[in-house]
Amino acid sequence: MSHPGCSPGPARRLEGVLSPVIPQLTELIRQSPGCLSLAQGMVDWPPPEGVRKALREALADPAADLDRYGPMAGDDDLLVSIRQELTSHQQLDLEGSALVVTAGSNMAFLALAQVLCDPGDEVILPVPWYFNHVMAVQLAGGVPISVPMAGEGGLIPDPDRLAAAITPRTRAIVTVSPGNPSGLVTPPERLEAINRLCAHHGLIHISDEAYAAFVHGPVPHRSPGALAGSGGHTVSLYSLSKAYGMAGWRLGYGAIPAQLLPALVKVQDTNLICPPRPMQRAAGAALAAGPQWCRPRVASLEPRRQALMAATASAAANGLDVRLLAPPDGAFYGLLEVPCPHSEDTLITSLIRNHGVAVVPGQSFGLVSPPGRAVLRVSYGMQPPDLLGRALRRLFNGLAAQA
Ligand SMILES: Cc1ncc(COP(=O)(O)O)c(C=O)c1O
Repeated sequence: MSHPGCSPGPARRLEGVLSPVIPQLTELIRQSPGCLSLAQGMVDWPPPEGVRKALREALADPAADLDRYGPMAGDDDLLVSIRQELTSHQQLDLEGSALVVTAGSNMAFLALAQVLCDPGDEVILPVPWYFNHVMAVQLAGGVPISVPMAGEGGLIPDPDRLAAAITPRTRAIVTVSPGNPSGLVTPPERLEAINRLCAHHGLIHISDEAYAAFVHGPVPHRSPGALAGSGGHTVSLYSLSKAYGMAGWRLGYGAIPAQLLPALVKVQDTNLICPPRPMQRAAGAALAAGPQWCRPRVASLEPRRQALMAATASAAANGLDVRLLAPPDGAFYGLLEVPCPHSEDTLITSLIRNHGVAVVPGQSFGLVSPPGRAVLRVSYGMQPPDLLGRALRRLFNGLAAQA
């Protein structure tokens, strides 16, 4: 029987979930032929040679058993490689941890949010946050608690401010270092202080390290999961999307507190059953290429990072009131504060439609700009140097035209 006035639509709950900004931008870019994107977080290099070879071999091997479901957490061979990577390169203390492979590290975060949040439970996210983290918490029925930061351009997580936001409903604190969108590497001592804070309050520290390989400045990346005894309360998440140039392959993995595993099995079994098995072969080949393969590629970003800083300095010297909120020392992002006579959305649309360049508005990372100003995330990893130069010229000309 049909109910008058009812139409098949989504649950009202979804109205409370942030709308994803990247698909909106991608559509605007598609409608503007020739637009150069500094929006999405990708690199411009292909995966290690061995990755395609491993996939070809897997597909050609009729005995490989890859057509069948495999273990929920991932195939044994890959889990051995991951354990090796996490202990030798990230120096994680895996005592009390379990490992899990997912189709991209976003999936691991989403699963964790499901595992941690009862309706109304809180997850603390320092501002600026990564939007998909907020969305995952909302989708799980949790409440993302945005905590603005002070000092260093307001971009580095501050343990005292995070501590002040803890309530009886808090389940976890999230950090992203190297940062998206900040492009900053959080000093290891800060991450360790946050990790101890979590231990003290019985919270989970979710440390998103998708950009672990992308450090350009003086502050090193050190996972908080490397702290002795942290395994029982720390989630450390990694992605093959960035350093290995495999964003479209959808491969990620994480170390999680072992006591969460039985609950995580429920989510992963329902969602994925097992990570795609031919892809796991590809992941194994990427990890075999290792950090020594990634290092020169990450280093190849240096001239592009310099180009962003030089273009900003030159625009400022020419009278445009722009500045980078912080030195872009990590990942491949810079946060630009710029004049904005109208709304941030209007500015972004105008840059795409009228000036042929796309960037992401700071508000999609929880950043609130002062009146008359906007913050833009510039991703300098996905355009080769010549196109990046052209895109930056378009960006600063576009900003000057509307200032
Ligand atoms: C902080 C952060 N975590 C996770 C992801 C997504 O990683 P994956 O492609 O492995 O899902 C991104 C992608 O932009 C990111 O910036």
